[in-house]
Amino acid sequence: MGVADLNVAVVEDLWWRYEGREDYALRGLSLEVRRGEVLAVMGHSGAGKTTLALAMTGIIPQRVPGEIRGHVEVLGLSTLRADVAEIARRASIVFEDPEVQFVMSTVEDEIALALEPLRLSRDEMRRRVLWSLELVGLDRGFLNRSPLQLSGGEKQRVAIAAAVAREPELLILDEPTSDLDPVGKEEVVAALRRLRRELDMTVVLIEHEPEYVAEFADRVVVLREGRVAMEGGPGEVFSRVDELRSHGVSPPEVSELAARLGLGPVYRLEQAVERLRGSVRAPRAFSPGDGGGAAAGETIVECREVRYDYPDGVQALRGASLEVRGGELIALVGPNGSGKTTLAKVMAGLLRPSAGEVRVMGRRIEEYDRLTLSSTVAYVYQNPDHQIFNKTVYEEVAFGSGSGASRRAR
Ligand SMILES: Nc1ncnc2c1ncn2[C@@H]1O[C@H](COP(=O)(O)OP(=O)(O)OP(=O)(O)O)[C@@H](O)[C@H]1O
Ligand SMILES: [Mg+2]
Repeated sequence: MGVADLNVAVVEDLWWRYEGREDYALRGLSLEVRRGEVLAVMGHSGAGKTTLALAMTGIIPQRVPGEIRGHVEVLGLSTLRADVAEIARRASIVFEDPEVQFVMSTVEDEIALALEPLRLSRDEMRRRVLWSLELVGLDRGFLNRSPLQLSGGEKQRVAIAAAVAREPELLILDEPTSDLDPVGKEEVVAALRRLRRELDMTVVLIEHEPEYVAEFADRVVVLREGRVAMEGGPGEVFSRVDELRSHGVSPPEVSELAARLGLGPVYRLEQAVERLRGSVRAPRAFSPGDGGGAAAGETIVECREVRYDYPDGVQALRGASLEVRGGELIALVGPNGSGKTTLAKVMAGLLRPSAGEVRVMGRRIEEYDRLTLSSTVAYVYQNPDHQIFNKTVYEEVAFGSGSGASRRAR
C-alpha cells in the first residue's frame, strides 16, 4: 500500500495570503489526514483553521483571490489544478453557518441539490435523501420544510445530511456546533456519534470544545498563526496543559485535573475515574453554606411578574420574577428563544415591560431618566456591533463611560 492509500490528504509547507492582506494566514503549514481517522483541528481564533479547510477543497486558491505557495493533495488530486467540482464530489465541507449554504426552498431539494453532480437515478436519489436525514435524526416531516425556517441545530443537521448524502471519502466539518444552544449542540453531537459509529468516513473536525474533540478525535492538531504547533493523540496533546493554553486552546477539564494531580495523559472522564479509584477516600460531607460566594448585599434590581410581548405578538416574558443583590454574579441560562436577552433588556430599561414591575435600587424603573439609569445599569450587547458607534476604541470607551449616554438607548 502506497502513501497515497494511507493518506486522504497531504498538506505540505502551505503558505497563503488573502488578497489585500499583508500577513499570511497560513505560514508553512504541513499535515496529513490518514484514511479512516477523525482528525480534530483546534487553535485560537484567526489561527487559520477555516482557511485550511478551504485549502483542502480547492476553494482556496481557485475561488478566493490571494497568493499561494506549497502543495495540497486531497484524494490524490492537486487542489491547485484539479476541478473544484471534482474535488467536491468526493470531499464535502460543512461550514459553521449553514445558512450560507442553503439555496433551495425545501429540505428535500437542498439535499437533492448536493447529490446532483453524482447523476443518480431518481430512486437512488430519494433513498439517499431519506437515509441521510434519518442518519442525522430528522424524520420525513422535515422533507418539505424550508431549511431557513428551522432551529439552529436542525439547520446544521440538514447541512450535515446534505454533505453526507454524497457518501464523500472526506468530510470536513468547520465548527459544526459553535453557534448552537446546548440543545442544538447535543442534537448535532448525537448526529456525529452516529456518523462515527455507522460510517467509515475520514473526517476533519474543526472544533473549539475540547470535550467534543476528546470524544471524537483519533488525532489532534493545534494550529497557531498558520502553522501546526502541536500534533498527536488526544491523550498526548491534552496532557500538555500549559503548552496548549499558551496556544490559546483549553484542554478538557478532566485533563487539567489529571495534570494537576499527576495522573498522566487523561482526556476522558472514565480514564480519570479509573486512575483515581482506590486513592480517594470518602469525601467529607459539605454543608449547603460551604459553596457560596460573598454574602449577598441589598437588592439592586427586582423584577416582579414581568411580561413582555413583542410587537409581532411573541410573548417573550410571561411573568418573570427575579431579584439581583449587590455583589452577585447571576447566570441567566436557557435555550435559544427563552427570553434571556429580553429580560436583561427590561432590567436595563431598554425595553418597557408590557406588565409587571421592575425596580432598580428600590425605585420604579419608569421614574429614572435615561442618563441616570444608564450610569446605574450598564448593558453589554450579545452582538457588539449593535453597541459600537464610534470610530476608535478610545472614543467608544470614553463615550460608554458617560457623555451622551442617552444615545445608547435604542
Ligand atoms: N476572506 C478573508 N479575507 C481576508 N482575510 C481573511 C479572510 N478570511 C480570513 N482571513 C484572515 O486569515 C486569518 C485566518 O483566519 P481563519 O478564518 O482561517 O481563522 P480560524 O482559525 O478559522 O478562526 P476562527 O476560530 O475565528 O474561525 C485571520 O487573520 C483572518 O483575519
Ligand atoms: Mg473559522
